[in-house]
Amino acid sequence: MIRLGVNIDHVATVRQARGEPYPDPVQAAVLCELGGADNITCHLREDRRHIQDRDVYSLKDTIKIPLNFEMGATEEMIRIAQQINPHGVTLVPEKRAERTTEGGLDVASHGHDLKPKIARLKDSGILVCLFIEPEDRAVELSADLGADAVEFHTGAWCHQMSACRRTRDQIALTAQLSHAAALAHRIGLQAHFGHGLNYTNAMWLQHVEHAEEANIGHAIIARALFTGLKEAVQTMKELLNDPRHRP
Ligand code: PXP
Repeated sequence: MIRLGVNIDHVATVRQARGEPYPDPVQAAVLCELGGADNITCHLREDRRHIQDRDVYSLKDTIKIPLNFEMGATEEMIRIAQQINPHGVTLVPEKRAERTTEGGLDVASHGHDLKPKIARLKDSGILVCLFIEPEDRAVELSADLGADAVEFHTGAWCHQMSACRRTRDQIALTAQLSHAAALAHRIGLQAHFGHGLNYTNAMWLQHVEHAEEANIGHAIIARALFTGLKEAVQTMKELLNDPRHRP
């Protein structure tokens, strides 16, 4: 089964747009849980543009499923992670000007900085996942750095899939994800996927043998406007796992 992690940042984005106390991302997380989400992801950005510190504490206290705390690898965020003690963290590169996370970590250039930080998080009992591009070298370096899991950045794959006109091209593109996941699995890393996944492409992950988790935000929150959150989560979970949706 592919676990579904729901990223609830966009609920906080709507709240922050008006400075009102609603909609509440914690309430959203509870509905996601009822819809079958396997974990909840939130990203506390340095600029606090959506999720606020109190949301993360409140999520940890409220939800029964694991919390995946997405964060830049800064001292401030490590301190917060150690206080909150989430099930896991996903380390991402963070640029102030970006609209959303734009690519995987440059593990080759930043390994010396990341390695001790990963060790400190793991010493606190937190599972560490690195958000990387689906490339062999990045997978191997992630294992060397001591990560427990990698989340493959699927942004480029999603764009390429939507531009594909032929099924065989989609199969070939998805084989690249399968290759990266198989390598991760072989060297002892969990393989997660995320960014840009939606209701027209997520079902292709059924072809990725070692896919363990998909983290999806924007598409689920957008669909929830029309169907409600519980149903949007249920439908996505089916696309990821029900053989009837296998392309
Ligand atoms: N995974 C990571 C590491 C991300 O940064 C994001 C975006 O916040 C997601 C998954 C979810 O991406 P999307 O909102 O496109 O589903």
